[in-house]
Amino acid sequence: MRTETPQPVRLSDYRPPTHTIDEVALTVRLAPQKTLVSARLKVRPNPKSDAGPDAPLVLDGEAIELRGIMLDGVPLAQGDYAVTDESLTIARVPAGPFELEIETACNPEANTALSGLYRSNGTYCTQCEAQGFRRITYYPDRPDVLARFTTRIEARRSDAPVLLANGNLVDSGEIEGTEKHYAVWEDPFPKPAYLFALVAGNLAVFEDSFTTMSGREVALKIYVEPGKEDRCAWAMASLKSAMRWDEETFGREYDLDIFMIVAVPDFNMGAMENKGLNVFNDKYILARPDTATDQDYANIERIIAHEYFHNWTGNRITCRDWFQLCLKEGLTVFRDQEFSSDVRSRPVRRISDVRLLRSQQFSEDAGPLAHPVRPSSYIEINNFYTATVYEKGAEVVRMLHTLIGGQAFRAGMDLYFARHDGEAVTMEDFVACMAEASGRDLSQFFAWYEQAGTPRLIVTDSYDETAGTYSLTVAQETPPTPDQPDKKPLDIPFAVGLVGPDGQEMPLVLDGEGAMERPVLELTQREQTFRFRDVAARPVPSLNRGFSAPVRLETDLGDGDWLFLMSHDSDPFNRWEAAQIYAKRLLIRLAGDASSGAPLADAPDFAEALGRSLRDQSLEPAFKAELLGLPSETDLAGEIARNVDPQAIHDARRHLQASLGRALSGELQDIYERFATSGPYSPDADSAGRRGLRNAALGLIAMADGERGAAQAFEHFRTAENMTDTIAALSALTRTNRPERDRALDAFYAAHSGDHLLVDKWLMLNAAIPFPETLERVRTLMEHEAFSITRPNNVRALIGAFAGLNPATFNDPSGDGYRLLADVVLELDPLNPQVAARLSGSFKTWRMLEPGRRALAKAEIERIRACKTLSRDVYEIVTRILG
Ligand code: ARG
Ligand code: ZN
Repeated sequence: MRTETPQPVRLSDYRPPTHTIDEVALTVRLAPQKTLVSARLKVRPNPKSDAGPDAPLVLDGEAIELRGIMLDGVPLAQGDYAVTDESLTIARVPAGPFELEIETACNPEANTALSGLYRSNGTYCTQCEAQGFRRITYYPDRPDVLARFTTRIEARRSDAPVLLANGNLVDSGEIEGTEKHYAVWEDPFPKPAYLFALVAGNLAVFEDSFTTMSGREVALKIYVEPGKEDRCAWAMASLKSAMRWDEETFGREYDLDIFMIVAVPDFNMGAMENKGLNVFNDKYILARPDTATDQDYANIERIIAHEYFHNWTGNRITCRDWFQLCLKEGLTVFRDQEFSSDVRSRPVRRISDVRLLRSQQFSEDAGPLAHPVRPSSYIEINNFYTATVYEKGAEVVRMLHTLIGGQAFRAGMDLYFARHDGEAVTMEDFVACMAEASGRDLSQFFAWYEQAGTPRLIVTDSYDETAGTYSLTVAQETPPTPDQPDKKPLDIPFAVGLVGPDGQEMPLVLDGEGAMERPVLELTQREQTFRFRDVAARPVPSLNRGFSAPVRLETDLGDGDWLFLMSHDSDPFNRWEAAQIYAKRLLIRLAGDASSGAPLADAPDFAEALGRSLRDQSLEPAFKAELLGLPSETDLAGEIARNVDPQAIHDARRHLQASLGRALSGELQDIYERFATSGPYSPDADSAGRRGLRNAALGLIAMADGERGAAQAFEHFRTAENMTDTIAALSALTRTNRPERDRALDAFYAAHSGDHLLVDKWLMLNAAIPFPETLERVRTLMEHEAFSITRPNNVRALIGAFAGLNPATFNDPSGDGYRLLADVVLELDPLNPQVAARLSGSFKTWRMLEPGRRALAKAEIERIRACKTLSRDVYEIVTRILG
């Protein structure tokens, strides 16, 4: 709990550690309320430290009880060291290598923060990233201290029959004369403490094996709660395909003889890449056709791959300090994006990544929480596991790939692995490898890591018919963000194409330079003009193809141009993008009308263009499903940006969905019938795409015609043969205000109340009902037996979804939604500050709101800030949000 005003940590203050640790031998004697930890550390002064060999040894520690210290076998007396809430300092230590033995105790059962050693439904598990290891023992808890770990675990066999830690099992057995047993694990790879993990409990295992490219056999084990073994097959298949892909694509082979994954129900984030022992939120492991949706299957595949890929990008090469978080996260997200693009559909994955980027990152970048991909200061590092670090971080890596090309990128990665294996490095080190491999100067490019805010590209064009030339003028401008009023121009890869009046691709011949090798313009100045020659007729430009840069585009293209691109662009991403832009323009006009009470018009041209795409045999079903998905309410609010009326945006979007549902009813019903499932469920991308398109059609049908639509959705629910169809039916029904909705929700809960993952889906569906009654519903559900505020998945499903997926109700003009969120943040903060801080981030767009809601939201954020005992986590978020 906070006693003084929390102080920021700054990148510019980085100093190498005064001491390094070569070896750590941990003995952990597990007991629910008093676990004893003994840590034997081989310490030596760091020759690279600027503090000299006489520097005191300062170890981090938090929420643990110190029971004894010995230095080189001699117990230290009280006066030899000093302990605070956050540290243990030994003022005088030897100038050469020495051994330190520290005895501490901690209480896993009382650990509701889920950082350090805690219990999840009876299983002991750890989460040490970013700074959880200091809640297990005193230690230099920073990523640039790399040590070899040996872990001995002791526990009563009845309490914890399975004992796991990083590396290889080297010993195990009974402890004579007790009911206890032990296991000793040895990890040969030096690692920072944040990659330490320990798991113990009553777990079942699902096993397989993998033969690596050099012919080594790796044992693969997925541990789950007993009875869940039949939900592991997809996770295992995903792991094996990720292992193969990393060998084939990046030449990276796994390096231990065993790879373990453990699924636990209570986890602050998605998953964690601990060396050889990944720990997962079980919603990203467990899947069976009757319990998981296609979306769940895709997420599992992606997250398993992400954590596995960290073994090289994160573990073998790690971050020098937490400011470099994007070194491992941006790069690893890029790698998981490439993986799914290769094993599934590239355009569809790109569309879903851009949707996520727009809804999460653009809104972050446009508000008070904006920060660079590599921040330069933080109060609480856990607040920086953000869409900017992850998603924009991945975009920056993608831009590097686009700028230097695939071959040079691969060479740069090879160089990075060769040069820095076993090290803790910085963004500069990574980019230097790319610069060397490509022979390019990337110094201007580096600003992408340091400059916050989403750049705007303002594009104008002109066509000279007699000369046959066509010019594109591109101006770039990055808006001011907190602490960064002035921005430099960025180095931007801008992929373009020219589409002729006949819908055919035109050649790109830059005046004075000849045909372009790759269709990518490089923007480096505030304004640049590119002139193409041999342009026989006025083209429609297809800009930022594949979303080659994470920017906002401003053009003077008109509705007709967007409809044209929607049907003719050869770049599938930009066909989707054209539909999004068209819909966005339409929805913003409709929201204006809704706000002023004007009647809302239909959109026959858009419906016709969509209808044409739906009938186009060359487009895959998953892509068509994406075309039917309108921009989110959050995106629209971000586009409007001022005096936002969330109810008007909601009404406009509903209206357009209903109107499209009516205009396209023939096509939609046809799809619904043609894509009816037959045969057993298969989670592959094509089958999922067909279900996705059929369910997207159902969604519009349900909006179009209240009575009949709801009846059809209810019938879909009743006859569903897999969880994908069940959830699709329910989410169509939640958007209606008809009795079938609650009938279906009640039936779902009655059938699945024993399955916590399905109960979370049910909570989320309830929270997303876009009507004012939902406020009361959410408050009631917080008292329901299915909900516990100490379970992060429950909180995210009910409260997170309410604040994030239901803007109309969260922003209820009464201010009740804001009050509810503030109440939950204040209740949760003392229990789990990380999750509380994340929830409080839902207030980040309050300044965009119309004055009435703005004042109500502000009052609730101020009520949170007024609390005297706020955690550093929530304190940092609310002070930044209030600005
Ligand atoms: N490194 C994990 C990942 O794969 C995220 C863990 C972050 N946990 C936290 N408490 N901040 O992305
Ligand atoms: Zn990660």
